[in-house]
Amino acid sequence: MTYALYELATNPPIQEKVRGEILQIMAKHKRNLTYESLKDMKFLKAVIQETLRKNTIVGFMPRVCRCSCTVRTSCNSPLTIQQGTSVLIPIHGVLHNPDLYADPDTFLPERFLEGEEEANKIDRCSFMAFGIGPKVCIGEPFARLELSLALALLLSEFQFSVCDKTPSKLIFDPKKRFMSTVKNGVHLSVKRLRHKEE
Ligand code: HEM
Repeated sequence: MTYALYELATNPPIQEKVRGEILQIMAKHKRNLTYESLKDMKFLKAVIQETLRKNTIVGFMPRVCRCSCTVRTSCNSPLTIQQGTSVLIPIHGVLHNPDLYADPDTFLPERFLEGEEEANKIDRCSFMAFGIGPKVCIGEPFARLELSLALALLLSEFQFSVCDKTPSKLIFDPKKRFMSTVKNGVHLSVKRLRHKEE
């Protein structure tokens, strides 16, 4: 939530676009937020996906190699991993690899819009914010639903913008090693919106 609101406060046109979608779909559903209405919010889904890509929450996945294998690498020489070797899969590195995500440090939710050329280029294994394989995050569907609902509710009622205390760059707390946490938190300015019918 913190990262999503920070990205939207620092990218006002994207915030306006996602709010426009939320209000339009809520209007279709008589201003109710239902499971079905949230599923229709394709741009909100892309905003969440891009937030999770750009602001890696879990930076790496630890694994132990169960049987020796040889894997392809990006530098043309295959790598053999021996049984019993501890391996750290760098989630952050994969999600910021410019070969997979052009301009990786820029917040571009459009790259995840279904049907877009960019989205088709993305390999399933290249998005691992929730891990991948048999140990994938068991809470992923819950986390996605909770994020969509909370963001839709907040963005339909409030505008988020930067203030004097908003950091220009997010600095992570090195003591929080498993889940990334922003040092000193993120301050934003919040303004209640007035809708026409009020
Ligand atoms: C944005 C929110 C979340 C992110 C980015 C996230 C990310 C992850 C990642 C990367 C893993 C390791 C997967 C692997 O090793 O392959 C994991 C595991 C796990 N997560 Fe999440 N998670 C999130 C929210 C949640 C929530 C809300 C719950 C519970 C309601 C949850 C429960 C778990 C559990 C139980 C595991 C261990 C699964 C296992 O070892 O079999 N997570 N999560």
